[in-house]
Parts: sequence; structure tokens; C-alpha cells
Amino acid sequence: MKVLIVGGGGREHAIAWKLAQSPRVNELLAVPGNPGIARLARCLPGKVEEIEALADLARRERVNLTVVGPEAPLVAGIVDLFRSRGLRIFGPTAAAAQIEGSKAFAKQLMAAVGIPTAAFGVFTDPAAARNYLEECALPVVIKASGIAAGKGVVIARSREEARRTAEEMLSGQAFGEAGQQVVIEEFLEGQELSVMAFCDGTRFRTMVPAQDHKAVGDGDTGPNTGGMGTCSPVPVADAALMQRIEGEVIAPVLQAMADRGTPFQGVLFTGLMITADGPRVLEFNARFGDPETQTVLARLDSDLLEALEATIEGRLDQLQLVWSPEAAACVVLASGGYPGAYRKGLPIEGVEEAETLGAMVLHAGTAEKSGQLVTAGGRVFGVVGRGASLRQALDQAYRGAEVIRFPGRHFRRDIGWRALPSPNDL
Ligand code: AMP
Ligand code: GLY
Repeated sequence: MKVLIVGGGGREHAIAWKLAQSPRVNELLAVPGNPGIARLARCLPGKVEEIEALADLARRERVNLTVVGPEAPLVAGIVDLFRSRGLRIFGPTAAAAQIEGSKAFAKQLMAAVGIPTAAFGVFTDPAAARNYLEECALPVVIKASGIAAGKGVVIARSREEARRTAEEMLSGQAFGEAGQQVVIEEFLEGQELSVMAFCDGTRFRTMVPAQDHKAVGDGDTGPNTGGMGTCSPVPVADAALMQRIEGEVIAPVLQAMADRGTPFQGVLFTGLMITADGPRVLEFNARFGDPETQTVLARLDSDLLEALEATIEGRLDQLQLVWSPEAAACVVLASGGYPGAYRKGLPIEGVEEAETLGAMVLHAGTAEKSGQLVTAGGRVFGVVGRGASLRQALDQAYRGAEVIRFPGRHFRRDIGWRALPSPNDL
């Protein structure tokens, strides 16, 4: 089979790495890919949003299956377009991808079917939002409803900050159209958990859970990022909690999507807060998570291609998913300044050395300039380690992370801190 991967980040590198192991995949293509993916796939230039061009490419190259990484092409209808042209593709339709594309839609769906989530209001009118913010408890969470590249969530600690944030979003100043509708919701406390599931429209199979670290700094300090590292397994997500999440969240949301005539097929990502009162949904995404996929696929022992095909062919009941008992951890190396402004084009050294030390180096924001590997994004690498325990997986990831160098490089030193046994347990 010839498989096309749409995207060029760490998630797509992990998908390429896993698909390259499939005995049934004999050629991988990626648009646009990156220098790491280029070792596994033929990378072709292109933009992930240009879905017509991608469909033309899939036809011209006689691609047997296309896998979509990022949300933008899904929300833009790449799956609908490919299907209308008889091309096989993995992912949800535009209508089903609304579960990520509109936070207002996702919250209203959850409220309608009783899925546990933070109390909320949806606003387009600045005066109504202002009134709501006069009364609510602080801190309060304000979210641009549309797609804002992971930056559209603000936790406001004062009423003044809350008012200003809502105003900037609703006026279109902050995130354009994506912010002209906002969700204002209750602030939740607890541990975050990411659960991804293959969904074939009616059935689902959950993957092993992962824990992301959103804040840029150690101890969860500083502004939120796209994710600074992940680990799996996650002790808080024991069998009982996973069963609750499947029963109280995933099953009902899939049923609700099917009932409204927009069945969800693809990977459903559920971001949760595990509060003292139980799991609460923070968000749904319509795709593999980044950087969750980097650790979750590192633990998948069975063939990813089989899982993708069982999903799109509606036969998840027949799928054998085999997970490794080993732990995996991913440490993100970020550019100086990220998640704020950062420079690009800085030279990178040490990737081979990190690999020699046993780490799996997944490229996220890299490029090649006259034969030299250089930085090209905010998150530059995800360095993945595996081991019998999470401690061993982290040690391997950090050994690799230390030796990859570029000016301004920074990474969190405490990935996995919630998941490691506390000194009291030893
Ligand atoms: P979201 O894109 O909706 O998952 O939000 C991004 C991040 O903001 C989450 O991963 C949490 O760290 C934080 N967050 C979102 N909603 C809440 C909430 N209701 N309470 C506390 N933190 C939240
Ligand atoms: N790590 C969360 C996401 O992929 O949006």
C-alpha cells in the first residue's frame, strides 16, 4: 500500500514511524513532511489547507490511503472532498470535525446529553458576556470557540482581565472570526488526562492514555503552549477511571454524533480534567493529539495500518490492538521565546548522538538549509524514551534531549512528575 500523511509535525513523524513498520505499507508520502519524516517518506511540498491540491496529488500518485494529522484540513472538509472523489482517507467529515472546530458546538452537545464538563455560557454579544463575567467565580476560563492554533484559551484571574479578554476575542481583534463566539466556563482543578479513541461511527477502541504538560515552565508555571511533553501510562487513569470515561464520555458522544446524522469516524481526542468530583471534559479534538501521539504510538505493538483500516471500514469490533507494557515519555525541545515570538533558521547539532543513546528523535519544527538541519518552529523536537518503568523512559528521553543543541533551546525538566511514584510510595 501507498499511504499519504498530511502534515509535518511531531505527530506526523510518529505516525510515519509507526506506519513504516507495517508489513503492508510499501511506500509513504508526506505533505509537507519534515527532515525527520523524509527519512521514512517521500516528502512533497504543499500546504495542508489546500485540500483540492492534496486530492489531485492522491489521485496522481495512486495513493491507497490518506491519513490527516492536523485539524484545519479536517474542518475544511478534506474527508468529504476525498470521499466524493472515491479516494480513501482516515478522519472525520467536516460536520463531525465540528466537535473540535466549534467549542460552542461541543459544549452544547455535552450539555444536551449530560456529558460531565465545566459549567459554561456561550456568547457572541459583548454586553451579555460582560454581564456573565460580573457574577461568575474567579478564576474563569475564556475560550475562542473556533480554531485558534491552541492559543485561544485564557484563564483570567481578575474580572478586569476577564472583561478585556472577552472583548478582544469578540471584537475579532484577538483571533479573527474564531473568537467572535466565546465559551466562558468554570475553572476546574485537578490532573489533566488525554484519551484518544479510534471511532468507526458507532464503535470505538480507546488507546492507552497519556498526560500532557501544557505550561511552558517547570511546576506548570508560565503561559500555555501546544504541549511541552507527554508520558504514558498515567497512574491516575486506572481501569476504573478509563471505564468511567468510556461509559460517561466517549460512548454517549459517539451516540449523539450518530443520532444527529454526523457519525464520527477517525480519532476522537478527549482532553479531561480529573477533578475531586470525577472526570470532566475540557475539549474534544477530531484527530490524533500532539504530543500525545508521540508516546501513545511508541507503546502500540500492533499494526497502525490495521487500526486505521478497521476504523474507516466500520469493523473496529474485529481489531486486535496490542499495547506494550513499557512506559514512554516525550520531552519537547522548544525554540527560545516559545510560546511567544522566536527565531527560526538556527543550526541544530546532536540528533545522531541522541539516537545513539537510544532516544527516538521525532522532528516537529525543523528544516534543512544547504545540508544543515535548522530550527523552523516553536516546538522543534519531541525526544521519546521507552523503558520498563516511566523513570527509565524519562531517563532515556532526557539523555537524548540534553545532547541535541541549538541556540535558545529550552525544555521542561519535570515531564511526568505527576505520574512518577512519589518519594512516599518508595
Ligand atoms: P482546551 O483547548 O479547551 O483543552 O484548553 C487548553 C488548556 O487550558 C487545557 O489543557 C487546560 O490546561 C486549560 N483549561 C481549559 N479549560 C479549563 C478549565 N475549565 N479549567 C481549568 N483549566 C482549563
Ligand atoms: N495536545 C493536545 C492537542 O493535540 O491539541
